Amino acid sequence: MCEQSMASWLVIYLKLEMAQLVASLYILWEGCSERLHLDCNYPASSELPYGRWVVSICSAHCDTTRAMCFCGEGTKYPNRPVAEACGFQVKLPSEDGGPKVTDWAKADFNNIFTKNGSMPGWCNVDPADAYSSKVHFKEDCDCKYDGLWGRFCEVPVLCTCINQCSGHGYCRGGFCQCENGWYGADCSIPSIVSSVGDWPRWLRPAQIDVPTNKNLTGTFVSLKASLRRKRPLIYVYDLPPEYNSLLLEGRHFKLECVNRIYDDRNATLWTDQLYGSQMALYESILASPHRTLNGEEADFFFVPVLDSCIITRADDAPHLSMKDHMGLRSSLTLDFYKKAYNHIVSQYPFWTRSSGRDHIWSFSWDEGACYAPKEIWNSMMLVHWGNSNSKHNHSTTAYWADNWDRISSDRRGDHPCFDPDKDLVLPAWKIPDANAVTLKLWARPYERRKKLFFFNGNLGPAYANGRPEDTYSMGIRQKLAEEFGSSPNKEGKLGRQHAKDVIVTPLRSDNYHEDLASSVFCGVLPGDGWSGRMEDSILQGCIPVVIQDGIYLPYENVLNYKSFAVRIREDEIPDMIKILRGFNKTEVTFKLANVQKIWQRFLYRDSILLEAERQRNALGRVDDWASAFLQFSEDDVFATFLQVLHYKLHHDPWRQQVDHQNKEFGLPRECLMKTT
Ligand SMILES: *[C@@H]1O[C@H](CO)[C@@H](O)[C@H](O)[C@H]1NC(C)=O
Ligand SMILES: *[C@@H]1O[C@H](CO)[C@@H](O)[C@H](O)[C@H]1NC(C)=O
Ligand SMILES: *[C@@H]1O[C@H](CO)[C@@H](O)[C@H](O)[C@H]1NC(C)=O
Ligand SMILES: *[C@@H]1O[C@H](CO)[C@@H](O)[C@H](O)[C@H]1NC(C)=O
Ligand SMILES: *[C@@H]1O[C@H](CO)[C@@H](O)[C@H](O)[C@H]1NC(C)=O
Repeated sequence: MCEQSMASWLVIYLKLEMAQLVASLYILWEGCSERLHLDCNYPASSELPYGRWVVSICSAHCDTTRAMCFCGEGTKYPNRPVAEACGFQVKLPSEDGGPKVTDWAKADFNNIFTKNGSMPGWCNVDPADAYSSKVHFKEDCDCKYDGLWGRFCEVPVLCTCINQCSGHGYCRGGFCQCENGWYGADCSIPSIVSSVGDWPRWLRPAQIDVPTNKNLTGTFVSLKASLRRKRPLIYVYDLPPEYNSLLLEGRHFKLECVNRIYDDRNATLWTDQLYGSQMALYESILASPHRTLNGEEADFFFVPVLDSCIITRADDAPHLSMKDHMGLRSSLTLDFYKKAYNHIVSQYPFWTRSSGRDHIWSFSWDEGACYAPKEIWNSMMLVHWGNSNSKHNHSTTAYWADNWDRISSDRRGDHPCFDPDKDLVLPAWKIPDANAVTLKLWARPYERRKKLFFFNGNLGPAYANGRPEDTYSMGIRQKLAEEFGSSPNKEGKLGRQHAKDVIVTPLRSDNYHEDLASSVFCGVLPGDGWSGRMEDSILQGCIPVVIQDGIYLPYENVLNYKSFAVRIREDEIPDMIKILRGFNKTEVTFKLANVQKIWQRFLYRDSILLEAERQRNALGRVDDWASAFLQFSEDDVFATFLQVLHYKLHHDPWRQQVDHQNKEFGLPRECLMKTT
């Protein structure tokens, strides 16, 4: 029977996979007999008994499986965090309004371990007593770690894990502990002991089109069935956990590098973390029907190294070894990708076949892939910062620890940050805003957009609370503000060409999205690298005005930007109003209409809906955001990404040169022979 053969073929297919994996599984198994030992503190000295400062610095109990600090045995609440300043003596400010100073050499045992309710305790404080002000507690102590909620971390909540362990594992602070029968970073890969019926949708090897013929239930047999898998097929490396799961697990701030956390009802709380896109995309690929476990049939290879985590966590704990990098997170990150490269080159056969050209890496930080190690530059880079370096050929961040100019060329090579012939700029993560979506801000017509131009953001040193560096935003925002500033700067001055319907302000109103939606044109200018303004503009239906020379925006190398955006050269800034007023109504409404056609390409809807499905399955919950986003069906970020890959599959010139193994796929031979 064909059905039978199909099932046994699947088993064979899986066994082949298993053979490849048994070796590494075995190592993992062995590894489980060892506990990780990750210290909280740097080595002690006589002046610094807890070592020099690091986020994980701990005077109480260090959980060395994840370098995190807790109250520990002997206290009433042993699992309550003692994060950072909590465990150390804090000196009150010497003058009014001055900063509190923590003495990292002096533990504060008297307070955190006290049982005397008149003293500001922490580890023995009963939440009910504290809420009703019956006892004191130390205000510097809080609940930063994931998986805990409430002022006293008294409520256990779900942690954020990759795809929430696909329903086949326990999420331990970010690390998936898979149930028997499942493995992989998100427990999505079945082993031979799991039943085919439980397989995730993406793994079911293909859509089988069987002709509808009710008589087929009989003995059989002329079956004109066909088996189709959707190209492109993407193989996702299951890297050692140090590149993803362990980074998630040891987060000292629950919001770091994720796009969601969970509240005290275990309801999803979407975050405003612009870097959350990296996790969103990774999860979508893992759960996609375009994923394959068979590297031989794969068109692309995704290497899930999470720079959003390594960078936000650079100072978190001694084992992340910032000290070897002159304090530069850029250098640390380069090394991290280099190690992952060494790993896949030594453990898998796939890299050398194409010199890595069919491999995909993601760099979500401010300057994207500027500091990719030279070894991986052939690959496709997914970034938010498309600097082709044609004009801005140095590091453009004003944040010194991310600067990459000092990284030597024997590590970085001399590649640009972005190559439009092979790389792709993807949108940054924006919090799913059910309200904006319900109000249909993206569809606001021309007549209701009363302002000509809008830009809100940090405008640099001339303004109160402005970033002090002249190099911030490569000086571009500063130039815009000099001409069109609509709020007084420190000297009380407005921009030279200030106009009533042109808003350039550092002050954010409570109605930021509404402000964008009531403007025809919206500014897209850099910050320290990218700034998420393109996303704000498009999602609110505003025509983006891009001012950053030689630096590509999301999809700019694949979409026709002229049809929905305006680009103004940096040296044309003084002419901006003239240029914008120069577009006639036909042109403006044409662009607005096109913005409305592509706005969903800036939504991570696939990621949002995966979460909606998980919440529905786990808790029977359908939140407002879930209903709001379920109504859309146009191509989103993930669909666009797949379309780009599909295009590359058929157009990348190198593919014609590389001698490909037979990538045929379809029904097993037995089935084909029976087909007449
Ligand atoms: C509790 O602490 C307060 C303030 O430090 C002190 O006056 C009091 O004597 C302490 N009570 C006990 C029982 O130690
Ligand atoms: C939320 O999830 C955590 C971890 O699984 C669990 O301990 C807690 O009881 C859950 N809370 C609710 C309200 O379901
Ligand atoms: C199904 O089988 C019955 C009896 O053998 C036959 O009369 C009928 O036409 C068949 N239907 C189809 C759709 O082939
Ligand atoms: C970098 O750009 C500057 C001007 O922007 C130019 O003078 C210089 O030659 C460029 N350097 C390289 C290596 O392209
Ligand atoms: C608007 O501008 C376009 C392009 O410059 C031009 O072709 C068109 O005729 C103009 N339409 C009107 C109504 O002026």
